[in-house]
Amino acid sequence: MAMSNLKAKLLEKIEAHRPRTTKLNKEFGNVVIDKVNIGQCIGGARDIRSLVTDISYLDPFEGIRFRGKTIPETFAALPKVPGKEQPFVEGFFWFLLTGEVPTMAQTQEVVADWKSRSAIPAYVIDVLRAMPRDSHPMTMLSAAVLTMQRDSVFAKKYGEGGLKKNDMWDPMYEDSMNLLAKLPPIAAYIYRMKYKSDIHIAPDANLDWGGNFAHMMGVAPPYDELARMYFILHSDHESGNVSAHTTHLVASALSDAYYSFSAGLNGLAGPLHGLANQEVLGWIQNVMKKLNNKVPTKEELEKFLWDTLNSGQVIPGYGHAVLRKTDPRYVAQNEYSKKHLPNDPMFQLVNMIYEVAPGVLTKHGKTKNPWPNVDAHSGVIQWYYGVREWDFYTVLFGVGRALGVLANITWDRGLGYAIERPKSVTTDMLEQWAKDGGRKGAED
Ligand SMILES: CC(C)(COP(=O)(O)OP(=O)(O)OC[C@H]1O[C@@H](n2cnc3c(N)ncnc32)[C@H](O)[C@@H]1OP(=O)(O)O)[C@@H](O)C(=O)NCCC(=O)NCCS
Repeated sequence: MAMSNLKAKLLEKIEAHRPRTTKLNKEFGNVVIDKVNIGQCIGGARDIRSLVTDISYLDPFEGIRFRGKTIPETFAALPKVPGKEQPFVEGFFWFLLTGEVPTMAQTQEVVADWKSRSAIPAYVIDVLRAMPRDSHPMTMLSAAVLTMQRDSVFAKKYGEGGLKKNDMWDPMYEDSMNLLAKLPPIAAYIYRMKYKSDIHIAPDANLDWGGNFAHMMGVAPPYDELARMYFILHSDHESGNVSAHTTHLVASALSDAYYSFSAGLNGLAGPLHGLANQEVLGWIQNVMKKLNNKVPTKEELEKFLWDTLNSGQVIPGYGHAVLRKTDPRYVAQNEYSKKHLPNDPMFQLVNMIYEVAPGVLTKHGKTKNPWPNVDAHSGVIQWYYGVREWDFYTVLFGVGRALGVLANITWDRGLGYAIERPKSVTTDMLEQWAKDGGRKGAED
């Protein structure tokens, strides 16, 4: 079979890039870029520069750039779905993978490619149906991904022997493309099975990846526009966040894309990471319920925020491990909402929280970043369009996150990144080094 344009372009990019990585590793491997302190050892390796990715970069004050472009620049540059305002997710994936903005023809090629790979194997449906119906939809998504591992091209090629290190990106790419193509129909299947009387909607061959997802969910336009924007916004946030890092870590053992991404999803399911979007909605609903569904005053809201903090909980959707300002992914969703749902009471409440919460969190004095992240906004828009089963929201995050992390692990194999293995120390050692004012032999 002839190599697709995307795959040929990726090969060209990997081959051009590989000597840079090899040279850095061989000739400059000893150049020191960071020191590590005890706080970072205990505190989740925060801020230690020890991962490499060229797909996105998160600046603490500017926010995310995908392949060097800000969020508004990315949306402006990519080919749009005809008659719509949002870009093709397929074109965005081309951009993530190659660093080049695709033409409409190149984008359409990925649209057709994903369509040809999108059929869900019957055994995936069997597995999903065998699970208790009240399983969390993230558990179902992760299980569905893991089940498909039997079809991994990488595992098969590796098992046959003779797969060279420089060729490993190829089956990783094939697995990633197969997995990406199947994720929207699988997610929509989980949604309809759990919440819509198990009545399913067949894909529409005329629709793109994002449009088809909205169609299979059974939600009318402009939900398709939201889906495209949402998946792009949630795709990548450099490599250190839990879902991206887990996917990369597992793939570093030469586990295939199914094993790796399923593991990443399990990390995304945590309340401090992707589950926060579900928790935000729960929190907002709780506030409104306590006030008989009326929008609170600022004073009432301030009290709810303090009650949450004083009960030892975090304010979901606020704070970030790297960002030190309002998340531009929050801003993008806010702009969208101003246009599409300006009078929605929950949207107004989101805006009011934005006015009150940073002050409360600053006074509380713990978090390094009192500003909202991506999760503070996303649930409210889903709710507006009638997707009100909020335990499903992290699945949407997971489908979007696949774009970034699968592009990353394909490049990991292209550049031959090593198996990950940081070194641990004991508490005794830390106490000794604390007493000594540092570890003897550590570089200054
Ligand atoms: C995202 C998050 C996990 C980052 O954690 P982090 O890097 O450790 O953040 P910080 O360095 O600012 O944390 C310092 C302290 O502030 C607290 N803090 C951080 N965000 C907070 C929030 N939104 N509400 C209350 N307290 C918060 C932390 O729990 C920590 O307290 P501790 O010292 O008692 O353990 C954290 O901000 C959080 O829990 N936010 C709410 C959940 C959320 O929105 N997650 C989605 C992220 S995209």
